[in-house]
Amino acid sequence: MKPPSWLGLTLALVVLLTATTRSASGTKLNYPRVLLPIFDHISVNFTLEVVEKGCFKWTSSRLDLIQITPSYDDVDEDCSYRVVVTVINKEKRRNTAIVLAEDLVTGEVLRCDVILDVIDQLGVLTTTRELYLEEAPETFELWAQDAQGNAFTTLEGIEFHWQIASHRSHESRHGGAGDSSWSQVLRFLTFSESKFHVVPRAIERLEAAGVQGYMVLLEGINTGSARVTARLPHGEYSHVPPVDVNIMVLANLILNPSDVYILPGDTIEFKVLQLKQGKLHEIALNSQYYLEIEDETYASMSGNAAKGLKVGRTFVLLRDRNVPHDALAGNDEANSKATLPKASLTVVDPMKLTINLLPHYNWVTVEGESHEIALNLFTHDDHQITLGAKYKIQSTFDESLFYPIRVTANGSSIFGETIATGSSPVAGKFEKVSYDLGQFRI
Ligand SMILES: *[C@@H]1O[C@H](CO)[C@@H](O)[C@H](O)[C@H]1NC(C)=O
Ligand SMILES: *[C@@H]1O[C@H](CO)[C@@H](O)[C@H](O)[C@H]1NC(C)=O
Repeated sequence: MKPPSWLGLTLALVVLLTATTRSASGTKLNYPRVLLPIFDHISVNFTLEVVEKGCFKWTSSRLDLIQITPSYDDVDEDCSYRVVVTVINKEKRRNTAIVLAEDLVTGEVLRCDVILDVIDQLGVLTTTRELYLEEAPETFELWAQDAQGNAFTTLEGIEFHWQIASHRSHESRHGGAGDSSWSQVLRFLTFSESKFHVVPRAIERLEAAGVQGYMVLLEGINTGSARVTARLPHGEYSHVPPVDVNIMVLANLILNPSDVYILPGDTIEFKVLQLKQGKLHEIALNSQYYLEIEDETYASMSGNAAKGLKVGRTFVLLRDRNVPHDALAGNDEANSKATLPKASLTVVDPMKLTINLLPHYNWVTVEGESHEIALNLFTHDDHQITLGAKYKIQSTFDESLFYPIRVTANGSSIFGETIATGSSPVAGKFEKVSYDLGQFRI
């Protein structure tokens, strides 16, 4: 039996459609245009390839400018879809070569303009200008552009010189000559040294030769700021200005509490916590770190204890003597985002006292249960007030119903047990603040 003719027709149509879609979507080159730099003693390489594999014949319009080296498939020796373009021209001016790839099957021709020019300016690609201690090293990457502001397609295989200059801290500046307390803020790391990175192919050869390329790894080793400079160490580029970046190394610090309401005359202690490899560690205030009050009309600071002076809001600032705060406040754009932690401190009058029976916020309970009577003070706008050493909340309740086992020094928590059945009121009182009422039903 013959297959129906519509089947043959449909098949033919499908084949035709597939063929047209294929050529319409277009085989193309990975780059239609590349800009490569000219050096006296370096021949920059760039790999051009056809996005969809196939068999191509490669030609260049200017054999005096670039050399093209097609690479062939292992399977099919005549098939090449990839070519290495090597700059051989040494003349320091803009020149263009056209590379063509002809599809040996369809005859289609693909084109790439290879523009050669000299580097006019360097810049840093990386946007991070702050590093944290104890964190994975950060990659810093350069870009280069020609006089018209076009970025070079590759800086692969080009040696760069990088330098770090740490800014001296205020302390050590007074320390006199040969002061060894001056510490290095940053260090370079090779990609092979880093357990967080693999060596990028583009700088493999340079790293193996022990020199630096357009990408480096930087690691913060002490808090402070440093200037990183990169330059082209090639005679023909001595006129290109080096590029430099200011980098701030910060410790990953947290102030606790971060937002607190206290009463005038009361004192509250702040803790400084450091995040190290995902864990918080409390660090002591020392010769490096200290706390400061932003506006001393509202509060004063002594060590890590802040005292409320007058109703109002201010901030507790953590300072690092290695990081000058004018650098942080920043006229320099690089530093403007860098911040050490600050905590908000609001000095308030109490407005409201609440009493609750935890854990269920319900006064109906049974005999022999453990509970906490929680008393809390609030501001007029419902922010909870933290009590320090100076104040205490008073409370009264029937101890023959609820037996107190432990009471916090500020009186805000009474841990105990219900020991008899009955009903009895619970009252809390804080200075002039009207008290709220609870009522045990056991
Ligand atoms: C380009 O490739 C050639 C041949 O492999 C090599 O000798 C040369 O060092 C390469 N250039 C760069 C800048 O890596
Ligand atoms: C009272 O002190 C305890 C610890 O002693 C604290 O957890 C609690 O937050 C304090 N209560 C108030 C209202 O400040």
